[in-house]
This record gives sequence, C-alpha cells and structure tokens, in this order.
Amino acid sequence: MPKKVMVATDKPFAASAVVQIEKLCKDGGYEFILLEKYGDQSKFVEAVKDVDALIVRSDNVTKEVIENANNLKIVVRAGAGFDNLDCTAASAKKVVCMNTPGQNSNAVAELAIGMMIYMARGQFNGKSGTELKGKTLGIHAYGNVGVNVARIAKGFEMKILAFDPYVDKAVMEKDGVEAVDSVEELYNVCDYISLHLPSIPATQKFVNKTLLSIMKKGATVINTARKEVVCEDGLLFVLGARTDLKYASDIAPDKKDEMLEKLGDRVYFTPKKMGAQTAEANLNAGVAAMKQIIDFFEKGDTKFQVNK
Ligand code: 3PG
Repeated sequence: MPKKVMVATDKPFAASAVVQIEKLCKDGGYEFILLEKYGDQSKFVEAVKDVDALIVRSDNVTKEVIENANNLKIVVRAGAGFDNLDCTAASAKKVVCMNTPGQNSNAVAELAIGMMIYMARGQFNGKSGTELKGKTLGIHAYGNVGVNVARIAKGFEMKILAFDPYVDKAVMEKDGVEAVDSVEELYNVCDYISLHLPSIPATQKFVNKTLLSIMKKGATVINTARKEVVCEDGLLFVLGARTDLKYASDIAPDKKDEMLEKLGDRVYFTPKKMGAQTAEANLNAGVAAMKQIIDFFEKGDTKFQVNK
C-alpha cells in the first residue's frame, strides 16, 4: 500500500503548483490526495483519518486533527510561520512538524512594499501622495522576509534600519542595513515600519501602545506578519489620538470594523491574506514541502523539523 500524502489547503495553491506537487508525489510512489476549500474544520478532521503525510498552509492543524489522523507521521507547513500547528499534540504522537523557510518570502516582501506605496498614495484616492524615495524604513525582525524587504527597498533609495536581537548586526550591515540597538529607536525615527515577527508567546501584542505612541510624525506601520503581534487596543488608542499615523495589514485584525469606522482611510486591510498568494511562492513552498516529505520517508531527513 503506497503512503498517502494529503494537500489540505482551505486557501488553495495556484493550480500550476498543485500539478507539480502531485507529479512529484506520484513519481515518488505515493498516493496524492487533494482537499481544497473545505471550509468547515470538521471536514478537515474527517479527511485526515488514514493519511501518512500532510501539506498545509495556514490551515489549523489542531490536536483534534492530529489525534484523528491515526497514520500521520509528518506535517509540513508550506510556508514560514507554523503557529497554526499544534506542535505539542504532534510531538505527543511522535508526528514530525516542519516548515519551508524562505520559500515564499519574496512574495510577502513584495506585498509589504506594495502596501507601503498604496498607503503613501492615499489608497489611490486621486489626491497627491508621497514617495518612498528618501524615506526611512524600519524592519522589525530581520528574517527571510525582512531581508527581502530590505533588498527591494534599496531599489527605492530608502534608508533602511532594522531591529532584531537574534540576528548578528554584521549580517544586517553586510546588506547595507543599519542595525539599531533598541526597538524604541526603530519606531521613533522611521517613516515606515514593516513587521516581520513570528507569532510566538514572546511576541504577542509586542507592538503595543507605548511603541506606537513614539512613532515619527506621519509614519505608517505595515503588517504582513501576524495580527497577534499587534495590540489592537493600543493601535486603536494611538491612531485615534494621533491622526498623522497609518496602519495597513495583510491580516485582518479582530477589531477590523471598529478600526475602519474610527480610523477611516488611515487603515487598510487586504480582503484575504495575500502575502504568499503568488504562483511562484505556491510552487516554491508546495514543492519544497513535498520534497521534504519524500526525504523524510526515504532518508529519515528531519532538517526542517520545528518540534524537536
Ligand atoms: C507564512 O507564514 O508562510 C505566510 O504567512 C503565508 O501563509 P499562507 O500560506 O497561509 O498564505
């Protein structure tokens, strides 16, 4: 009996990416199962019953999913953030969890820059806006996406600063990025702040009232990371008090309606999470996930395991 690999994506990959993933899967001698746009979580829970491997995006791989998947050995999150995987439940069942770091970062970085332009041009409202050239960009967390944002922003002739206590300053400086010593400095001097923090316990509501309130006059925060890293009450308070500030996010906040009502066109939210929604990113991340599954089954390779 061939092992079963399921691609479970409520938000589907581009069809061209699915074709490649399926080919790789079948060429490797595995059975390919596709579960797209399942909508209701119960359908996902039900579908995983006898799968050996799972490829997901932001799909919620909950304890229930893991416990219902009796044959499951590996889950690969085709993407960077794995906050949607219950790694504790997976570890308890000896299920290996992986991500595919870097595979969709250019797509997310391009969207972050696009959102900066969109906000600089007043959401294309026909009035005079501003340019990115000559402005200061602050990259909050210098991982794969942050690196790509810096690379693109250089072409716009922006001055680039970054804060990341986990990255060697020499790495940033080699990229032509000025490493600042404190997160406060970043928020205090930049015209744009681009968020790239992972959603982990230490980063919950990290971008809070205090940080937002020290922002430079006229600054804009761009969030292509996670809604959880921003304190929504703090954001509502500070943007309510300071009408010069703006916020744009690729992840709708819980208080989206209240923000739109109170802050109007100083805030913008994409209708659906769009960061990694490119054919290229889908292909890179999806194919990488499939290859990692094959390498795991064939060679015991656990290089990208995140629940060690
Ligand atoms: C990631 O963590 O890789 C991004 O947030 C992309 O998420 P998505 O695959 O759900 O679009």
